[in-house]
Amino acid sequence: MRGVRQHVNPFGLAYLEPRARAARYLARSTQPDRVEVELGCADADFSFGLAAAQPGWQVVGLDIREPVIERNSRRAERVGLANLEFAYCNLSTDLDRVFAANCVDRFHLLFPDPWIKPRHRKRRVLTQTLCGVLASQLRPGGELHVATDVFELALEMLAELEDPAAAALGFRNLTGPWRFAQEGPVPLASRREVITRRRGQRVWRMRYVVHKTALVTGTRRRSPDPAT
Ligand SMILES: C[S@@+](CC[C@H](N)C(=O)[O-])C[C@H]1O[C@@H](n2cnc3c(N)ncnc32)[C@H](O)[C@@H]1O
Repeated sequence: MRGVRQHVNPFGLAYLEPRARAARYLARSTQPDRVEVELGCADADFSFGLAAAQPGWQVVGLDIREPVIERNSRRAERVGLANLEFAYCNLSTDLDRVFAANCVDRFHLLFPDPWIKPRHRKRRVLTQTLCGVLASQLRPGGELHVATDVFELALEMLAELEDPAAAALGFRNLTGPWRFAQEGPVPLASRREVITRRRGQRVWRMRYVVHKTALVTGTRRRSPDPAT
């Protein structure tokens, strides 16, 4: 994307103050049957494809880079996709402000920035803190779909999701413990996946379903807690 910074530091001062807003579709009088969210969407080819293929689903693309969000929003309006919205969110600090508990059917974390340098590793997004927020916002039986082309990062994310702490949140590997998935949940690829495959490189994919006990399962709420 020309003229837009490739990377921003999620722990930079400008991004630490929580300022993400509740997803706009939550304010509508009628709610969609299904909500799919792309975390770190960049150009959002995946989200555009999903919204076009499934007009009855609500698709939300989130990214920390505001110029990317503005550009995607203009494009969604231009192509007339009313079931697609984009919003600013720093996944490291304020996803809890965007959705209420039990209202997302599937999160897609596709090709997150690998932050290879040792001093940058703390910027990687999939932490136990994020897992806790995702588990809370997924409806019972909802899914987390993760993909990357960086094997080291794939192993780290797999370890995070196989951790007993993630199991306690309800995450179960759809493919079996410690296994990568062969196929994604929908026949669509993000821009980064298309590039990876064109280069003949491997995609490492994980799919986790979240199980919730009756105790942690609330009803679908229409907006996040105003106190957040
Ligand atoms: C490599 S791109 C992947 C884009 C797209 N999902 C794909 O597969 O083509 C990673 C995206 O994650 C975004 N990102 C990185 N850290 C983030 C954070 N803490 N919160 C939200 N977005 C973040 C970046 O701005 C970038 O757009």
